[in-house]
Amino acid sequence: MNASAIRELVRPEVPGLPAYNAGLSSDAVRRRYGVEHIARLASNENPYGASPAVANALADLARRAGTYPDANCTALRAAIAERTGAQAEQIVIGNGSESILQMLCQAFLSPGDRVLTQRPAFGLHEIYPRMMGAQVELLALTPTLEFDADAWCEALARGPKMAMLANPSNPVGCMFDARSFARLVDATPAGTLLVIDEAYYEYARLAHGFPDALAVLRAQQRPWIVLRTFSKAWGLAALRVGYGVASDASLIQWLDRVRTPFHVNEAAQAAALAAWADEAFMEKAVEETVVQREVLARQLLAMGVPGLRIAPSAANFLFIDLARPNGPVNEALLARGIIVKPWKEPGFETFIRVSVGTSDDNAHFVGALREILGA
Ligand SMILES: Cc1ncc(COP(=O)(O)O)c(C=O)c1O
Repeated sequence: MNASAIRELVRPEVPGLPAYNAGLSSDAVRRRYGVEHIARLASNENPYGASPAVANALADLARRAGTYPDANCTALRAAIAERTGAQAEQIVIGNGSESILQMLCQAFLSPGDRVLTQRPAFGLHEIYPRMMGAQVELLALTPTLEFDADAWCEALARGPKMAMLANPSNPVGCMFDARSFARLVDATPAGTLLVIDEAYYEYARLAHGFPDALAVLRAQQRPWIVLRTFSKAWGLAALRVGYGVASDASLIQWLDRVRTPFHVNEAAQAAALAAWADEAFMEKAVEETVVQREVLARQLLAMGVPGLRIAPSAANFLFIDLARPNGPVNEALLARGIIVKPWKEPGFETFIRVSVGTSDDNAHFVGALREILGA
């Protein structure tokens, strides 16, 4: 088989899709730039890691490696149901919340369906709908780098099949507050599936005015699902666990038909259960990150770089307009062992997204940026 024969076989939706840009690994940066210490500030991970209870839960896993995991994630769904006030039947667990996004698109989207999302957004909010042949409408930010609530309400009222909204936004960090979120839900016709992606929920709930999306949506007669993840605040990105709470059990049953049968492995289920039981550990890490986020923003603004601005953030990262092309700055940061995410979409080539790290890593980043920008 040669490449052109394979090209003939591929589905028409696939050639137009980008491969997801996961950035450089720490090892790749070490090898390529010959640096020892790496500040990983590109993937919005929790620098304080997971609860120590996770290590205990994983300790005897080797003994269980020969048997399939629970295909229904029964214990984890029960634990999440209890704390979120949902029925276990309303809950789906995914191999990362990204896999729930994929299941939603596979179960509900056909070629030509209309999907609404934001630009810039988490890449898979656009890629997975396009994979199914859907048309994706991308809404712009306001000039002050916030959600445009009027534009969202108007576009929702036109009745897309699905709306994918990350609240707060990745990569921007901006959020719909309780008032604008309620407006948005009211503007949505009952035939639209609302997908509210709260990957940064545990950080955002500390922000003034962040909506209780589950409470608002529960009061509505419409299809919805709220997605959250163990990859960020809970410190389990490597193990791949996310969850969704849906308007009703039938939505989850449709997802069950398109997912792979044993999609959440034994280690992931055990670790997520242990982390979930130690909420206090997670909360402490989140509080520290929120403090560090404000320190970092103040230090960056104090550099006095002309044109530099920072989007308001309710998450564990900052979206920074450097007012100059991000490529050379990114290269110079990598050479110093600092990994951030330079944004590549047209109109955002002057932006980098920087995850809030430990105070040491943040200081390393600020010092390096000051040097690179000559500030
Ligand atoms: C908005 C948003 N949704 C979903 C995800 C996927 O997270 P995971 O698949 O690790 O649960 C991310 C990861 O960065 C994200 O930022």
